[in-house]
Amino acid sequence: MKITVVGAGAVGASCAEYIAIKNFASEVVILDIKDGFAEGKAMDLMQTASLNNFDTKIVGTTNDYSKTANSHICVITSGIPRKPGMTREELIGINAGIVKEVSSKLLESSRDTIIIVVSNPMDTMTYLVHKTTGISKNRIIGMGGALDSARFKYRLAEALNAPISDVDGMVIGGHSDKGMVPLISKATRNSIKVTNILSDERLDQVREDTKVGGATLTKLLGTSAWYAPGAAVSSLVHSIACNHNKIFPCSALLNGEYGLSDLCIGVPVVLGKNGIEKIIELDLNPEDLAHLTESAASVKITNSLLTL
Ligand code: 2OP
Repeated sequence: MKITVVGAGAVGASCAEYIAIKNFASEVVILDIKDGFAEGKAMDLMQTASLNNFDTKIVGTTNDYSKTANSHICVITSGIPRKPGMTREELIGINAGIVKEVSSKLLESSRDTIIIVVSNPMDTMTYLVHKTTGISKNRIIGMGGALDSARFKYRLAEALNAPISDVDGMVIGGHSDKGMVPLISKATRNSIKVTNILSDERLDQVREDTKVGGATLTKLLGTSAWYAPGAAVSSLVHSIACNHNKIFPCSALLNGEYGLSDLCIGVPVVLGKNGIEKIIELDLNPEDLAHLTESAASVKITNSLLTL
């Protein structure tokens, strides 16, 4: 199983490291345009192999797409991250050109690959890949909801003073500070609805903290986060590579689901060997459905800024 990660920055390198440590891939290729950078990251990571007990071969390359040939899954993390105070949407001008070029070059060397988009504004970048490559929609997945859900569970566990393993929750909608929809009404602590445990005020705080989870870290770190994004995308890769058919909220191209069409936005999907095996239509309460619909309208406004 060969995996390519484009972008040797913090998110891409973390993703490659987590994939390697999970030891399900034979090879991970890291590609970057900065001379020697991917090679250095790959070598550094390979020097952890004996310490972290993995046999995955990690290879770095400076912009040589032939090294990515016949990859089963390609992860696109390339592009600029946001700075404190920026929205993800402000990155569209630079990142759209990068994502369009990268996805095209990946498909030249791996015509059947599954593409996972991480670059921001992620929902719009995922839509861009659909529109510019024309490959089957199950093979293009946007990673945002898995990360946002992990942050949601973190905030819920904090509020509940519970171990994370006790908590379950999902975030759907756009991967944006205002557009995320944490499904409070469906979240549980060990099958007990959190709405039966926490006050409305505390749950409102959990919701708001979740929505700005990325921005909170960007303010603290001076750049976008990387550990949780890397771990989130490696989890999607794992489910696809091993045909686990796990459910994750991912940015998927909708064609009528949830009453939405012609956009990519975070909804629960089953991830297996074919990529998106199935889009799941949850039974949403009117408030959550309204928030998802509002979020979709906002994503479409960002999509309209694309020059396709
Ligand atoms: C985040 O939320 C990078 O969009 C990513 O941290």
